[in-house]
Amino acid sequence: MSRVKLTETVFRDAHQSLLATRMRTRDMLPIAEMLDQVGFFSMEVWGGATFDSCIRFLNEDPWERLRALKLAMPNTRLQMLLRGQNLVGYRHYADDVVEKFVERAAVNGVDVFRIFDAVNDIRNMKVAIKTARRMDVHVQGTVCYTISPVHTNELFTKMAVELADLGCDSICIKDMAGLITPHNAYELIRSMKEEIDLPIDLHSHCTSGMAPMSCIFACEAGVDILDTAMSPLGWGSSQPPTESIVASLEGTPYDTGLDLKLLTEIKRYFEKLMEVYAPVFNPISARIDTNVLVYQVPGGMLSNLVSQLIEQKAMNKYDDVLAEIPRVREDLGYPPLVTPTSQIIGSQAVLNVLTGERYKAVPKEVRDYVKGLYGKPPAEIKPKIKAEILEDEEAITDRPADFISPEYEVAKKEAEELGIVKKEEDILTYALYSQVAAKFLRGDAKEEPLRKKKKKNKTAADASDDVMDGKPVAFNIEVDGEAYLVKVAPVGMTIQEAEPKAPVDGVTVPMQGVIIRFLVEEGARVSKGDAVAVLEAMKMENEIYANKSGVVREIYAEVGETISPGDVVMAIE
Ligand code: CO
Repeated sequence: MSRVKLTETVFRDAHQSLLATRMRTRDMLPIAEMLDQVGFFSMEVWGGATFDSCIRFLNEDPWERLRALKLAMPNTRLQMLLRGQNLVGYRHYADDVVEKFVERAAVNGVDVFRIFDAVNDIRNMKVAIKTARRMDVHVQGTVCYTISPVHTNELFTKMAVELADLGCDSICIKDMAGLITPHNAYELIRSMKEEIDLPIDLHSHCTSGMAPMSCIFACEAGVDILDTAMSPLGWGSSQPPTESIVASLEGTPYDTGLDLKLLTEIKRYFEKLMEVYAPVFNPISARIDTNVLVYQVPGGMLSNLVSQLIEQKAMNKYDDVLAEIPRVREDLGYPPLVTPTSQIIGSQAVLNVLTGERYKAVPKEVRDYVKGLYGKPPAEIKPKIKAEILEDEEAITDRPADFISPEYEVAKKEAEELGIVKKEEDILTYALYSQVAAKFLRGDAKEEPLRKKKKKNKTAADASDDVMDGKPVAFNIEVDGEAYLVKVAPVGMTIQEAEPKAPVDGVTVPMQGVIIRFLVEEGARVSKGDAVAVLEAMKMENEIYANKSGVVREIYAEVGETISPGDVVMAIE
């Protein structure tokens, strides 16, 4: 009897998809022992956004989480999601950092490494795969699934064969946007099974509503492992519910053999836990969203987009941005939409719409992508757009990490000088997330209270207090799935829009963000179109250009200041 195995994602992808990656270790440990008895193929517990979230929002050491879970679950393989040369960060790191990171992750308890690259460029996965193999752990080579004129089952199968040739122990089809249809899940798995003799895992998301059906068709095609999430954290933009999949397969040749009663007991724990996490639970992410079938935008990216547009006070542009995303994706060679390419494509689409001129503003990350620093895009980038973005620069065609000098010793020295190294892993945390890591390792980070978001989207009670105090209050409200920003003020008080900070003629920014540096000083001579400042918006670095030629008369903003669209940052005469 061919048994289908399950990878349980409740400690990683499920809460990343539904709870903004905010689940705390202390809420995992009480149920870990029971989960350990289920008999999953593996539990996905680490990597993806969990590392970032731990140090940025939870004041938790991700390495300690890993060790604690390892102790609590000695019978279950612990799995992590690793973004190839990006590890768990947002840029490519040098080979020595990749090697050290994979080594330490294995030593601290990761048994299964699921390794992917956002543009399916195997050169970005090789060092991680090689190191994981050396550490004698299970290496799952990953194919990012997407739909485009260049992505065919033949191409995906060819990639799976190459990953098998590199010595991977299993292959994962990573359908991060929930785009795979039941029929194509069947076809693709059959195609891979004909070429390689490795277990195949289907990882999908319920975003479009098709994933549970695709799981069943995958079984018919001989899939070996399915990714599921305990039902209170299943559905929506998360994985199909574990209990439902177990029940569906019971008594069939694909029976998982897992105990539904035990799972139901475990489920009760997560039901209660969801009440605790209600403040960070976004109902939009729990919904089936068939838009994804048309726009091919993953659920996480959609909710990101909504919050970016609300921040930019441009929610009325939502439909325009959604329509722009596939165009940008086509221009840039059809990358799969997954971290970090989803941010790259999403931010460029937002900028194209907000500035009213396509590729007028191009973030550094987009330029780097076009330059080839993220690897080889699946299709050619449109030559005209490439030339426009790169100007005189040449794109690279070699493996991007070949251009990155060793970083580990540099990070080690810096971190030691800062006095923040207590263990070897701290150096890696610092190498990946320098500023955020330094703050965390110094002990200056604070756990974000779980009520925070409620405060931001104020409760009626909080808000009425503010209104009583005579302050206007802003609400994000949702009507028929559209978010609107409304302001409420006490009777007799008018709501005033913020005054512009300076005379209107000057260098303005197209979007809200934080000034991270100025590239010129007062008195400098600049030409129209010169980059004069760098604004961080939507996790991207955006250059701000001189509006005319002349001398920088005055700079009105400071580094670290938050700037809104239309604010004048400097005057040029
Ligand atoms: Co996923």
